[in-house]
Amino acid sequence: MKTHNNGEKTLKNFTITTNRINMKNIAVIGAGTMGNGIAHTFAQFGYAVNLIDISEAALESGMATITQNLDRMLSKEKISEADKLATLANITMYTDIVEGIANRDLVVEAATENIDLKLKIFKDLDAKCDADTILATNTSSISITKIAAVTNRADKVIGMHFMNPVPIMKLVEVIRGYNTSDIVTENIMELSKKLGKVPVEVNDYPGFVANRILMPMINESIETLYNGVAGVSEIDTVMKLGMAHPMGPLQLADFIGLDVCLSILEVMYDGFKNPKYAPCPLLVNMVAAGKLGVKSGEGFYDYSESRKAEKIAAQFA
Ligand SMILES: NC(=O)c1ccc[n+]([C@@H]2O[C@H](COP(=O)([O-])OP(=O)(O)OC[C@H]3O[C@@H](n4cnc5c(N)ncnc54)[C@H](O)[C@@H]3O)[C@@H](O)[C@H]2O)c1
Repeated sequence: MKTHNNGEKTLKNFTITTNRINMKNIAVIGAGTMGNGIAHTFAQFGYAVNLIDISEAALESGMATITQNLDRMLSKEKISEADKLATLANITMYTDIVEGIANRDLVVEAATENIDLKLKIFKDLDAKCDADTILATNTSSISITKIAAVTNRADKVIGMHFMNPVPIMKLVEVIRGYNTSDIVTENIMELSKKLGKVPVEVNDYPGFVANRILMPMINESIETLYNGVAGVSEIDTVMKLGMAHPMGPLQLADFIGLDVCLSILEVMYDGFKNPKYAPCPLLVNMVAAGKLGVKSGEGFYDYSESRKAEKIAAQFA
């Protein structure tokens, strides 16, 4: 049920929460690494998803990724052919944002990690979405409170931070902005559970929890390489075999995207004014050189022949 007044009716000294918000119609903005995974997940659980990207090529490649991932699930007998077809049928693609967000209960924004871009998108969403629509962002690090402040519905703006690859990873970090209401938070927590995920509620400070802990580790592993302490394979092997990490930090950085890692570190450096978050110069250089990891074909590893981190990039071999 959609309510005003944060869904709360105060009766004398206690509060009754009429807190069910029915969310069936979803829009996902951005069809890149995360957006296509988010669209896939909602669609697989029966939600009607409008997948929106300014780039038609990104939409096509996003749909191709969704189809490939469904095929993989099918071959492992995790889903049936009918599930695959139903999932694909639940997704409609749009390049026009206004058309894509019409009649949506929830918009999940997963566009490029850039604050000016996100502020513009949220301003537009606030102006063009129904008054009740909840606006979520999948940002890795940008302040939910700042994003909410450009809208007239700060109580309905929230962080819904999915992990990569979305259809597989269980965690959703649910980030409450300064003004996010209890009812919206509760509903996003519930919705995440309906997607088979485990939501964890956190407050809005730079990097939230996941990246506040992960990015300094990735940055330190790059610094270790930069200082010549050890090579790519040695650093990743130490962390995989010594700390039981499923993937080494340099491989993980390639997988996340080095531009995304850099931008998260910059947000934390700026937000805390603490030099411990300063991005390693090697990371800055690699992003400037267009070496972004898996998505560009090269980062710490060379992905020209395989998406697996099997060959060290020539620069570090
Ligand atoms: N990559 C990760 O592992 C990861 C993990 C968690 C969260 N995130 C966050 O998810 C978001 C998306 O990251 P990504 O890795 O998927 O990026 P990406 O570069 O793979 O995809 C971004 C997509 O957004 C599209 N886009 C840009 N401007 C747009 C606009 N105005 N309207 C619609 N689409 C637009 C681009 O065309 C592109 O297809 C970022 O906020 C990032 O911080 C990323």
